[in-house]
Amino acid sequence: MPHTILTGDRATGPLHLGHYVGSLKQRVELQDHNQQYVLIADLQGLTDNGLNPSKVSKNILNVLSDYLAVGIDPDKTTICLQSALPALAELTMYYANLVTVSRLERNPTVKAEIASKQFGQSIPAGFLTYPISQAADITAFRADSVPVGDDQLPMIEQTNEIVRKVNRVAGKDILVECAPRLSNVARLPGADGKSKMSKSLGNALTLGATEDEIRATVKMMYTDPTHLRVSDPGKIEGNVVFTYLDAFHPDTELVQGLKTHYMRGGLGDNKVKSILEECLQEMLRPIRERRSRFLADKAMLIDILSRGTAEGVVKTNSVLYDVKQAFGLNLLK
Ligand code: TRP
Repeated sequence: MPHTILTGDRATGPLHLGHYVGSLKQRVELQDHNQQYVLIADLQGLTDNGLNPSKVSKNILNVLSDYLAVGIDPDKTTICLQSALPALAELTMYYANLVTVSRLERNPTVKAEIASKQFGQSIPAGFLTYPISQAADITAFRADSVPVGDDQLPMIEQTNEIVRKVNRVAGKDILVECAPRLSNVARLPGADGKSKMSKSLGNALTLGATEDEIRATVKMMYTDPTHLRVSDPGKIEGNVVFTYLDAFHPDTELVQGLKTHYMRGGLGDNKVKSILEECLQEMLRPIRERRSRFLADKAMLIDILSRGTAEGVVKTNSVLYDVKQAFGLNLLK
């Protein structure tokens, strides 16, 4: 059955291979059989960049070009700019009255982010409340399905709590509950093997990475530190080069053969890395080329984003109307 799907990305940097594996590839498949909306979340990007807004503004068209370059098709997927949908900000204000501060402080994802960003006592109010704004995003499109990584599950839970409260206030079901659509692919580790891929950790390979950047990244990729000589048997588990071969190399039999050889001994890191490098170069070259062609045509990008956003304005305004109705506040229409 077709779903109404909403996903989005904070526009705080160009997208990388972690996004590609974790969500972009799925969106390209989902767009054929569902009503899919994708939100470039510039407002959410500001929640920890309020004093450094250019980090967000300069990345909006980067993210859009990334989408188009991987095959998200604006004729099938409606791509919207979050800050240009005023209903989202308004809905956030209505919902904020239904959520307690302690509930926000208990949100495990926000809690972990607050710790890792080292806000100390200086947590921006917008950051603490971003789950409310994300609930506005999801409900404003009447999305019933939200593709997420497991780190976003608390957002879905909080969204559905808000949905139930609004419906209780309204006395009828004006908002739709949403279900997470968990991706079955494992999160891609960064090139250092230490954690997930992330631009801010410096272990990411962006979709626009140059040939040299790809080469350098593969070269420094974490393998098996006990695999010192070519003749030594090597470990596959935790070996980022093999994790990436599993994720990207089209020839699974070849990869299986490499693994067996590596574990037995006699296969050097350099050889495996050169196979991975070639595979990544081939995969990323057309994406990089499309991406830079799109980026060079700013008028076309703005046109695509304007058209998607105009559709989003109509959709989200109708939900805002219903919510205001629930609160009895459509006096002036
Ligand atoms: N929170 C998401 C991220 O960290 C971005 C996002 C904003 C989003 N609004 C959304 C994701 C709505 C799914 C649904 O990138």
